[in-house]
Amino acid sequence: MEIRHEGGAPHRTKADLLAVPVLNGGERGAEIIELDAATDGKLLREAKRRTTDLSKPSSIFVYQTHGELPVDQVALIGVGGNGRTAPSREAWRRFAGHAIQVARRTRARSLALSVASVPARERRGTALAQAIGAVAEGALLAAHPVRSYKTSRPANDLATCAVVGAPGSRAATDAIARARALADATCFARDLINEPASVVTPAHLAQVAQRLRRELGLGVRILAPRDLQRLGMGAILAVGRGSRNEPRLIEVVYKPPEGSRTARRGPIALVGKGITFDSGGLSLKPAANMEIQKRDMAGGAAVLGAMQAIAHLCPGIEVRGYVPSAENMPGGEAYRPGDVVTTHSGKTVEVVNTDAEGRLVLADALAWAASGAGSAKPRWIVDVATLTGAVTIALGRTVAGVMGNDRTLVSHLIESGGEAGEPIWELPLVDEYVPLMESLVADFRNTGDGSAGSIMGGLFLREFVDGIPWAHLDIAAVAYVDKAQAYVPRGAVGWGVRTLVDFVERIAKR
Ligand code: BES
Ligand code: MN
Ligand code: ZN
Repeated sequence: MEIRHEGGAPHRTKADLLAVPVLNGGERGAEIIELDAATDGKLLREAKRRTTDLSKPSSIFVYQTHGELPVDQVALIGVGGNGRTAPSREAWRRFAGHAIQVARRTRARSLALSVASVPARERRGTALAQAIGAVAEGALLAAHPVRSYKTSRPANDLATCAVVGAPGSRAATDAIARARALADATCFARDLINEPASVVTPAHLAQVAQRLRRELGLGVRILAPRDLQRLGMGAILAVGRGSRNEPRLIEVVYKPPEGSRTARRGPIALVGKGITFDSGGLSLKPAANMEIQKRDMAGGAAVLGAMQAIAHLCPGIEVRGYVPSAENMPGGEAYRPGDVVTTHSGKTVEVVNTDAEGRLVLADALAWAASGAGSAKPRWIVDVATLTGAVTIALGRTVAGVMGNDRTLVSHLIESGGEAGEPIWELPLVDEYVPLMESLVADFRNTGDGSAGSIMGGLFLREFVDGIPWAHLDIAAVAYVDKAQAYVPRGAVGWGVRTLVDFVERIAKR
């Protein structure tokens, strides 16, 4: 879908559908009064007959203009708010997402999204550009279709989208370009996650990374099994051994433009779990819902997506992405419960449950990232992983869990998640639980006693970051939605791409 900014008043806009936000008390705003006047008062009369509170965030009223306005239809979409300050970025994203849903339902070919209701006193500052960016981001995220193998597919009529109701400006154009980079990167991650594991193998993920090198000039290095052997990455190799699709460790490096290098602040290492399918291995998962385990590379996809967006946005800080990728299968050569693996750090792990494979591949990747991977050590490490089912019990399906060894880092991530509309809540790394990982024969076991599942995952990973400021995002519950949200169609969310990019920019600007 094409998206652009268009000057001019909403009531003079030509499009199949015009979407107008209704803020709290906003049906008396200048924009709606003007539209209402053009319909001789029918717009608000009918709207109020159908809906009691037009500004309620779930309220949508669609009006057929029958030639009273240059658009065929007007959708009044509730965004709530307090009626005094501009709506949040998240409110604008959701507004745009609902508008796209109406456009789909009514088979509109062109959609205009109005930001004319941003309060006058905020139009000069950054609020207007922020609103334009958030609207564009929400629209692009909502419009991206899930790639499907259906032999008959629903028509997708919507071709163009315009943000209207604000004068043209450099800031507006920039905001839309930025939204484009972020939404494209998120949808790139979504597509990888939604694709079956027969297609997205570790080698496939490596090829996708190579494309980032060719098309965006990112540095890419792929470590194949013989390299993993040489580097002593016994954990990734063990997890991958039960599958014919051999493991890889994917590295993607972004270097800031010469001159802007801020060595003091970076580099940042982003590490994403890339299990392309998690059957559980010999500790086999039950059949029910096993298909969802194709999403077990969602953390890796988020890291690749973030690297793609970073290449477009050019922050002044070095960023390195690492994706340890393997398929966890119960083949004849599979690793077993009771096996002991030696990780890249030299520390040994007794495998008690082959289904706790994410922390194993991450142990090697984190240790490698922490060592600097042959270059300078990172200042910050963030890992993203669909690590535990337990995080759904702890926080539900809306909020991701974060744990870390550094206050500042954890707070930055929570703030970035808030900006991105990806809420994050912290879980404690309880030192008293460390003994639960004690093994008779190795440095650690890869599971605890079944209690505090998500925290045990975090405690295990902490052993491999060599004391560098680090945080772990457990996204097992949020990576995927079973029901469409305002701007997220059913399926993969692409969770983390926008949070990670915001975080990187935050550190670069500190
Ligand atoms: N990939 C799973 C976690 C998961 C579960 C993601 C459900 C998405 C939906 C992970 O590898 C796993 O199996 N974790 C185990 C850990 C346990 C064996 C300590 C779990 O959560 O049960
Ligand atoms: Mn598992
Ligand atoms: Zn897993």
